[in-house]
Amino acid sequence: MKKALFIAGLTLISYSAIGADLANGKKLSSQCSVCHGKDGIAKDPESPNLAGQSSLYLEKAMVDYQKGFREDRRMSIIAKSLSIEDIKDLAAWYAAFELTVTAPEAPTD
Ligand code: HEC
Repeated sequence: MKKALFIAGLTLISYSAIGADLANGKKLSSQCSVCHGKDGIAKDPESPNLAGQSSLYLEKAMVDYQKGFREDRRMSIIAKSLSIEDIKDLAAWYAAFELTVTAPEAPTD
């Protein structure tokens, strides 16, 4: 059952990215970079990193701001200016970044 859910999840992720226009996502991302960083790593400490995040999560977050399920004084305005195609293209663009993560050293005392 767990395996079936996992596969269903993967299918959803790839389905969501199918048909997305990465070139359009890249072009649109220029209006996001002042807060979220050109590479999706935020320079502004109040803004979250978007690079490498799942496209499903990013898409849902933007739709939630657009529909008012989630509110933020900046994002609620920005999301309302985007079409659902633009949201999918932006989500696919930021999801396509690859990250390398290094865990911190475990503290010793
Ligand atoms: C003026 C600064 C600013 C700009 C420009 C901006 N954002 Fe944001 N964004 C934020 C902040 C701040 C948050 C966190 C808001 C919150 O607490 O809900 C956020 C949150 C998000 C989230 C949710 C991330 C998460 O981890 O939950 C997404 C997705 C997002 N922004 C996408 C975009 C996209 C795409 C653009 C360009 C079209 C954009 N943002 C432009 C400031 C900005």
